[in-house]
Amino acid sequence: MTDSESHSRFYPLNFNAITNEPYLRLPSPHDNIIITPQRLSDAEEIVPILNDEKVYMTLLGPPFPYTIGDAHPWLLKGKQESDALLAELAENHSTHAVGGCPVNILREVQEDGSDVYLGSVDLHRCRWFHVPHSDEKLAMIKANEARTAGDPAITWEFGDYLASSHHGRGIMSAAIGVVLRQWAIPRMRVRHMSVTAFQSNPASVRVFEKNGFILKGIVEDCVDMQESKGGGKTGLHVLEWSMAEM
Ligand SMILES: CC(C)(COP(=O)(O)OP(=O)(O)OC[C@H]1O[C@@H](n2cnc3c(N)ncnc32)[C@H](O)[C@@H]1OP(=O)(O)O)[C@@H](O)C(=O)NCCC(=O)NCCS
Repeated sequence: MTDSESHSRFYPLNFNAITNEPYLRLPSPHDNIIITPQRLSDAEEIVPILNDEKVYMTLLGPPFPYTIGDAHPWLLKGKQESDALLAELAENHSTHAVGGCPVNILREVQEDGSDVYLGSVDLHRCRWFHVPHSDEKLAMIKANEARTAGDPAITWEFGDYLASSHHGRGIMSAAIGVVLRQWAIPRMRVRHMSVTAFQSNPASVRVFEKNGFILKGIVEDCVDMQESKGGGKTGLHVLEWSMAEM
């Protein structure tokens, strides 16, 4: 197999000429930002970002305070998942539908060629955070998980964050657009998404709206805030996207 045949299986991923790390590049004016897999060496750069109030207060998932000990298993798992997806791509024809996106970390490439960790944009099977816990919800999640890769009936969600030094420049809007249009739609056959954003997070709502998501409403007081973030309940915006609505 020639290099170009092997690389077409990875399309539209690019590969770093020195490290062979795969990446997607954001369009101009953000073309100095690339999306790569997680690296085990990222831990020290993640910790200050996820301990920044402008980031952690609108995130449901990561623990707070966030420590190096939290970062290491997340990086290891992400790296293993990315490696498995790349191995799957290497073995299959370019029309094969894959079950995930092998790149998820936003990095700003510096003039000397080094790069700085900026945040992440992750695609997951939907967990419907705004729906109250019930047997029906568990069954819905289980059925969604059980669908095989490439099944257009799967509902997906995004989770994302960006270092506050880079908020408000259009970076996450561009990143979601790249992952959705360059990877999720053509390579994973993603056709339906349901995402949530805290009631207090109009910027995240706007990012999704700019990418064709439709705001369906707000579910008040539907999630518990971690005690370390002040506790209490918060509401979630719910947005949906379907291929036909683009
Ligand atoms: C939410 C987040 C990812 C947005 O990333 P970003 O790169 O700053 O977003 P962009 O610059 O691409 O777009 C932000 C949009 O929100 C708008 N916006 C920002 N603050 C706003 C506000 N208070 N009210 C209304 N719109 C607002 C901006 O004007 C922009 O829209 P525009 O391009 O139409 O002007 C980023 O702020 C972040 O990481 N926040 C912390 C973590 C988080 O909330 N993650 C999402 C969890 S669902």
